[in-house]
Amino acid sequence: MSALTELYGEIAHCQLCELAKYRTKVVPGEGAEDAGIVFIGEAPGWHEDQQGRPFVGPAGLYLDELLASINLKREQVYIANVIKCRPHGNRDPLPTEIHSCRKWLERQIEIICPKMIVTLGRYSMAMFFSGKSISKIHGTAQKRDNVIYYAMYHPAAALHQQSLRRAIEEDMLKIPLLLAEVEGIAEDKPQPQQLTMFE
Ligand code: URA
Repeated sequence: MSALTELYGEIAHCQLCELAKYRTKVVPGEGAEDAGIVFIGEAPGWHEDQQGRPFVGPAGLYLDELLASINLKREQVYIANVIKCRPHGNRDPLPTEIHSCRKWLERQIEIICPKMIVTLGRYSMAMFFSGKSISKIHGTAQKRDNVIYYAMYHPAAALHQQSLRRAIEEDMLKIPLLLAEVEGIAEDKPQPQQLTMFE
């Protein structure tokens, strides 16, 4: 059994917060265990909760289009969320829920050891770019321990606002160059214990 599959088993039994009571299905994340890029959204919505898969509703279809714009299919990347269960009524996740769920995302990243982490929206941005504003840092990257951290708007927000749509599409197109840069530099991938997430 792969390390991710084993982890999914643990996540499926998670009762660390109230959201466990309301979920239809837990949505751990999906994609290649050796993916070079991990995309991190906020939390499952209705469609995701029904199917147990991340980004399968309208925002997900748009994410697929964005990936296609850089010749990637979702199977070639890894897609996860900050929160693994749907906040009922589509409300924003609470700080306590984010705190409880954080260890799952950390373990996913440790297993995958990606070259690039792309945050989609404010919630995942806050985990890796503490105290920053998305309108200021979207489309910009930070390199730490040979991992590129890159902030983008959330596809759902971009779907509904033309100016954000232009920005997210332009930001997506920068990814291949950034990735090529880090691939050129890093011989040794960061080890799990070196991974520095947000404080
Ligand atoms: N929005 C997210 O942030 N994640 C999903 O999986 C779907 C919509």
